[in-house]
Amino acid sequence: MSLYQIWIRSFADGNSDGIGDLYGVYDKLDYIASLGVDGIWFSPIYPSPNADYGYDISDYRNIHPDYGTLDQFRKVLDRAHELGLKVIMDLVINHTSDEHPWFLESRSSRDNPYSDYYIWRDPKWKGESKLPPNNWYSQFDGLAWEYCPERKQYYLHVFAKKQPDLNMDNPKVREEVKDIMRFWLDMGVDGFREDVITYISKHPQLPDGIPFLPAINGMPFYKDGPNLLQYLREFRAVAREYGALQIGEAPMTPIKTALTYLTGEDRVLDMMIQFDTMSADCFMTDYIHLPFSLRRLKHAFSKWQRALDGKAWNALYLENHDHPRVISRYGSEEYWRESGTMLAAAYIFQQGTPFLYQGQEIGMTNIRLGSIEDYRDAATINTYHSFRLRQPKEKRLRHIHISSRDSARTPVQWDDSEHAGFSDVEPWFAVNPNYRDVNVKKEEADPLSILNFYRRCLRLRKESDALLQGSYREYLPRHPHIYLYERSFQNERFLIVCSFSKKNQTWKLPKGYASDNCSLVLCNYPAKAKLGQLRPYETQVLRWTAD
Ligand code: GLC
Ligand code: CA
Repeated sequence: MSLYQIWIRSFADGNSDGIGDLYGVYDKLDYIASLGVDGIWFSPIYPSPNADYGYDISDYRNIHPDYGTLDQFRKVLDRAHELGLKVIMDLVINHTSDEHPWFLESRSSRDNPYSDYYIWRDPKWKGESKLPPNNWYSQFDGLAWEYCPERKQYYLHVFAKKQPDLNMDNPKVREEVKDIMRFWLDMGVDGFREDVITYISKHPQLPDGIPFLPAINGMPFYKDGPNLLQYLREFRAVAREYGALQIGEAPMTPIKTALTYLTGEDRVLDMMIQFDTMSADCFMTDYIHLPFSLRRLKHAFSKWQRALDGKAWNALYLENHDHPRVISRYGSEEYWRESGTMLAAAYIFQQGTPFLYQGQEIGMTNIRLGSIEDYRDAATINTYHSFRLRQPKEKRLRHIHISSRDSARTPVQWDDSEHAGFSDVEPWFAVNPNYRDVNVKKEEADPLSILNFYRRCLRLRKESDALLQGSYREYLPRHPHIYLYERSFQNERFLIVCSFSKKNQTWKLPKGYASDNCSLVLCNYPAKAKLGQLRPYETQVLRWTAD
């Protein structure tokens, strides 16, 4: 299987208001199917005040009016199914919007039917001064607690103020979650991508965190918490009734814990989105940037490949709506086509389910806006205003250029007309000025384009058991410029060799490989590939069969 992620607001505008929507999605379903993927994951498309662009939900059973209606969603779903595409919805249940009716009730008093739906605590008092219940910071804006005068209590928000955390220890809340799941499964959706699902069970005492990295000091007490497995089992039971897929987002979850979700009788998740492969050029978060290290990336790849082999199944990705564009991070904008294609081969042929994020398949790159006012993402804006404040503005803006997740949220570049064919009016967010060169229409017509290379990769992967289920082995793990991995199954073997260098590189076949019976099945340069030699950002996929 492989999945294509849609972050709808920037995908395609079908009704000319500058905002992507389900009308636009409907028109592009054939395009998505043409990539060779097996399904779509929709980032949230529900009603939301958009404090976190859909990840703050105010109604779990409807469609945001900007994006269409439930009827339009059903049309998309039916057509997707006709085309053989599964549809996966984002399930955001760690928190709601503060405008969700549950929260409006909950905050109104201490005794209402929803009073225990969220995590409320009394203030701590230091003499006359009122303090939050603990020292946790939110991942988005300041402290993780917000005071509510009506209740004279604080509520917890691990993300923005406008995203109060649900109290999953309350069985009623878990029943709500199950009902929401059923609502969408009854309609025919095929599963869920479960947003920060590993945060839903908090340590009952909510102890103070170690003031180490402010934004995540509470993390040890809300991540992979004490009742998580039990709650996931309950949700799994619902998913099982429908044969639905569950993909859990799990920031910083170590492999050992991951295996408790992914294996055994519990097997509460089909796949897990780990964050290790997003950390080859940063420390913990994209906002603490480091020079890109291929060794770090390879280490992360191989660690997960080895740990899950034969036991569980990997979610493979290089991009999503939370990270800058991968060519700008791990590749090279200068060697745009070469590195964009090489990166595709570097992950698609690993063991697992490849995810493609909208625009990745045409090699969209980071945007560099002139001022922080031009950015839209709350996490980006908050980082700019609260981090590295002693540095000059220009320098802080340069950090944002490197690290902002808004780079993944610019409108998809469909053609070279005004607004990149995304909309016929001014879009809600800036279009990357490179749209005249980087766009779907141009790449459709070019057999050597990044787009067509993605198609070739996905096709090749599907045609071979070795690439689908074969075992994984890495060679040259310490090589600073080359990533070399093997997939093998029965009598078929592949080597995928990827150069992450602007210079020519050489390499040797590992022991047990002979050069004479090898065939080159894929290369990102048009001609003259040579065994043992790699041009800048070249990738070669080599195949051996023993009869
Ligand atoms: C997940 C989402 C991200 C969102 C956060 C809070 O990490 O992918 O976009 O901001 O959760 O919901
Ligand atoms: Ca629209």
